[in-house]
Amino acid sequence: MVKRKGLEPTSKTSPPLNLPKSLPPSNLPIVPYHDDIKRCLKSSNCIILTSSTGSGKTTTIPFLAHTTLSTPVTCTQPRRVACTSVSTYVSSLLNVTLGGKIGYNIRFDKKISKETVISYQTDYMLLRGSASGWGRLFPDYGCVIIDEAHERSLGSDFLCSLVKSAMKARNYSRFIKDDSDISSEPEEIKQLRKIVRKRKLGPLKVVVMSATISATKFEDFFSTPLSPASVLKIPGKTHRIDVTYLKDPCVDFVEACVEAMYRVHSGYGEGDVLCFLPGREEIDGAVYSLRKLLIEREEDSKEKSKLMKTTENADRVTAVSGKNLNLTTHPTDGAVVLPLYSSLSPSQQQQIFLPLPSTAHRRIIISTNIAETSLTLENVIYVIDSGLEKKKTLGSTGVGVLKTEVISKASAIQRSGRCGRIRPGLAIRMYRELDFESFKEVQRPEIEGSNLSNVVLLLLTMGITNVMEFEFLQPPSQSKLLKAFETLHRLKAVNDKMQITPYGTKMSKLPVDVEWANLILKSDDYNCVPEILTSVAMLSAENIFHRPSNELDAQKAAQKHKRFKSYEGDIPSLKSVYTTWLKETIYVDPNQNNLAQRYKQLRTSKSIKIPHPEWCNNNYLNPRSIQKAHSVRKQLYDICKNLFLNVDREMDPDTGYLNYLKCICEGLNHQIALRSIINNDDKESIKPTGKYKTLSGIEVNVHPNSTLFMRNPAPQAVVFTEIIETKKTYITGVTQVKKEWVTELNPFAH
Ligand code: CDP
Ligand code: MG
Repeated sequence: MVKRKGLEPTSKTSPPLNLPKSLPPSNLPIVPYHDDIKRCLKSSNCIILTSSTGSGKTTTIPFLAHTTLSTPVTCTQPRRVACTSVSTYVSSLLNVTLGGKIGYNIRFDKKISKETVISYQTDYMLLRGSASGWGRLFPDYGCVIIDEAHERSLGSDFLCSLVKSAMKARNYSRFIKDDSDISSEPEEIKQLRKIVRKRKLGPLKVVVMSATISATKFEDFFSTPLSPASVLKIPGKTHRIDVTYLKDPCVDFVEACVEAMYRVHSGYGEGDVLCFLPGREEIDGAVYSLRKLLIEREEDSKEKSKLMKTTENADRVTAVSGKNLNLTTHPTDGAVVLPLYSSLSPSQQQQIFLPLPSTAHRRIIISTNIAETSLTLENVIYVIDSGLEKKKTLGSTGVGVLKTEVISKASAIQRSGRCGRIRPGLAIRMYRELDFESFKEVQRPEIEGSNLSNVVLLLLTMGITNVMEFEFLQPPSQSKLLKAFETLHRLKAVNDKMQITPYGTKMSKLPVDVEWANLILKSDDYNCVPEILTSVAMLSAENIFHRPSNELDAQKAAQKHKRFKSYEGDIPSLKSVYTTWLKETIYVDPNQNNLAQRYKQLRTSKSIKIPHPEWCNNNYLNPRSIQKAHSVRKQLYDICKNLFLNVDREMDPDTGYLNYLKCICEGLNHQIALRSIINNDDKESIKPTGKYKTLSGIEVNVHPNSTLFMRNPAPQAVVFTEIIETKKTYITGVTQVKKEWVTELNPFAH
């Protein structure tokens, strides 16, 4: 017998390749509705399915869809950890190998094969795979499931639009032979339908799943005259959940949450604790403080000398003072404290699913809203909710800035709901009931915080030529869309026919606002790519300068900031902060995981003097912002290198600086303000004034925080990065440019 590789079972215990016919019995709330769901899958093109978290949507529906429709199914998740954990769980449930019939696909990691018929992937991965041409029809699948649609991420909103057009094209092609009878349909769909016929693609079913009950938006969107969407709302099964609020607002929310977790662990009954904090920094801080508190208490209760005898405990004590504290998972005082956020490595994230060691009886998980809906944490009895989350908004450079914002009522309810799964739970809200009442009802869709020119450029790169006819889930107004096109046309990202140009394609590779992408690409002509990359990165980080509120410290800070000030203004000053920082600190990139590389960085920093945090504190600069700028710069640098820009070219000592300013002037050509002339009759009596007028005619003032505030004589022409309206209208990021450059670029400016 010829042995064929791959067909032999590797061992007697290896799981079978084929999927079982049905799921193992369970009492998940969704199971009694499986027959209804099957019926809908057969009769409707689209199902909107809502049920509370943990009821069995993510684990059972892809399998149900696959067995009912006999077709490959994919299910999207907003987060990577959900893809890996759920696919691992489902494959073990069905006793098949992960990467065989069931698999996952996330950035830099995938476990799928030709065999795979049920895949879990991130929105981003499916979007990338389906972004253009043939891919837009989702040819690999007969059913696409968009999970956690209520989160309204840009990726899942876009997928909704794309699957809708694919669904229209794939589902009616068999009935519609001649395109003339559907002449009212967009050209886009007609084109797609031609491909469907040529390639003989079968129908596409869509399932949209969400944990919050408001499904009207999706129902309206997916219903077509030929086929209305089916809506299934499945009641959840949760135990009673008591909710408590604070009487007074807390001063420091991280500290307050740590105290609450400590209190629960010290005095409340069994069960895991889940605490929601906005982001990584807060979580790392809280993990550190809580472990410290628990270790101190444990030490109090035992004899210290005894404790030091075992190496494990010695490790633990050193870990308190060491920076690695947040990575240790030793139980302390009977509890395992675990951080959970998306930038942790997959193996660190999986820690929350590991069984507890014998010395512990409680997990305390401190998480971002990653644990709000995507993950099922079985034993949580206590939820502590800070009421805050990090949300992407547009910073002045259009780089997505994560800002801490209050959550929505829907999120608060969702967070509390995480604790009533196995028995009655308690949700401790670290805000007042009054605050809760003021929360907005549902989460803000990410598209609202996104720059529309960037969104349009993205659509064009996807090959969607008729943007005006694109069916957005949250349609922007026509005038906003036209404005976005105007901007792209001015930047030469689109031609007169509104088609994307090769320059526009280059711009789309840079993850910043289109204006800044244009500035970066232009800098190659001016031989100043490194300087512009630094400037854009520093501008995107925000709050570089620390300005204390008390007068004495504010004066000290201003004194320290003086040495970074450039005569030409704010953008060159920020650049000077970065270059000085690089020169004067030991900087080891926190994102550099390769130890050899880290040591190399240490060795090659010739002027090792002061460590990063200390240097920043001494100079009244914000260490986190500088680090952020550094990592943004690295990302931009890598992309520009791939675009063959001269990323390492040294500046010409004679003409370089002037070229850099000229480049800023040309790049930000639409953000120019000219000094207002007080007296037109008598040219001699023109006084220096801080009053300016933008090219579009808005009267503005230089912001008091600007280097050019009260400059005497005031520069005639400046470029700015942002307009802020408070009592007065201010411009920030103000940089002096030559008036003749402005007139050259804008012949009508005066
Ligand atoms: O998607 P939905 O929130 O409706 O629930 P699910 O993720 O399908 O989870 C259903 C059940 O599967 C949970 O209640 C857990 O008991 C179990 N599960 C698990 O133990 N481990 C996972 N990684 C995922 C689910
Ligand atoms: Mg789910």
